[in-house]
Amino acid sequence: GKYRVVSTKPMPGTRWINLLIDQDCRVEICTQKKTILSIEDIIALIGDKCDGVIGQLTEDWGETLFSALSRAGGKAFSNMAVGYNNVDVNAANKYGVAVGNTPGVLTETTAELAASLSLAAARRIVEADEFMRAGLYDGWLPNLFVGNLLKGQTVGVIGAGPYGEFLKANGEKPVTWRRAASMDEVLQQADVISLHPVLDKTTYHLVNKERLALMKKEAILINCSRGPVVDEVALVEHLKQNPMFRVGLDVFEDEPYMKPGLADMKNAVVVPHIASASKWTREGMASLAALNVLGKIKGYPLWGDPNRVEPFLNENAPPPA
Ligand code: GLV
Ligand code: GLV
Repeated sequence: GKYRVVSTKPMPGTRWINLLIDQDCRVEICTQKKTILSIEDIIALIGDKCDGVIGQLTEDWGETLFSALSRAGGKAFSNMAVGYNNVDVNAANKYGVAVGNTPGVLTETTAELAASLSLAAARRIVEADEFMRAGLYDGWLPNLFVGNLLKGQTVGVIGAGPYGEFLKANGEKPVTWRRAASMDEVLQQADVISLHPVLDKTTYHLVNKERLALMKKEAILINCSRGPVVDEVALVEHLKQNPMFRVGLDVFEDEPYMKPGLADMKNAVVVPHIASASKWTREGMASLAALNVLGKIKGYPLWGDPNRVEPFLNENAPPPA
């Protein structure tokens, strides 16, 4: 291969590798055992000559890495993620490295996890499972693990449209928050609130103590976006004070760690950042990431380009039609 493309992690399927090999690229996949690579590890991977890198959301892509990639002749970096809060896009622009992300292919899979977490929280599935495995079930009772019915309830979707469509198909009534309406009104009305914004400085602690207080006492809050969108310390306190309030979390403020007390809360369902983890989506993300890097090497625009994404809370932007 004429071009050297590095992937910082093995990724699902072989399609993404074949896409690159077919177009004159040599693909190198880092097989280091440690889960999260350091900046030094990645600099070593980039080496003296590297045309493009496919990286992961756990890596800190800033000045240091983009200057190293640029020195190695690199033209493109793609996150294998739709989110890109781990990427300093300005630094990449400064060093002439194009940045890609993987939008679109996550939508249905993420919506399904948000729906799964909502249902698991509403019907106390995890608590009930633990109860069974602990050998505590000694017979049917009218009051055993009574939860909430979601059918016909109001779902507030904060940050993106397609998730609401998915829930509508399930018989719930989605209210999608838009800049034109008041988000706080949605938080007050919704029985289920699902968070899907991009994380940036306008969405950091979007859900804080005050906003938690606006929500119904029996609301269900779902976060499949990024941990810092929720003030997790305030959330733990809210869960303690409101035992009927439930939460389903895929992401955490200090990922991979949880804030103290969260793991003890029976009204929380927690999973390890798996919202995009269907085989179809993960293979699609890997292929899109490869196509992003390949496109740039060949002189085309990228398929997923964060520069095209509107900022979430841009006061000056007109409301969507
Ligand atoms: C996953 O969290 C992603 O942003 O793709
Ligand atoms: C419950 O199992 C019922 O039959 O009502």
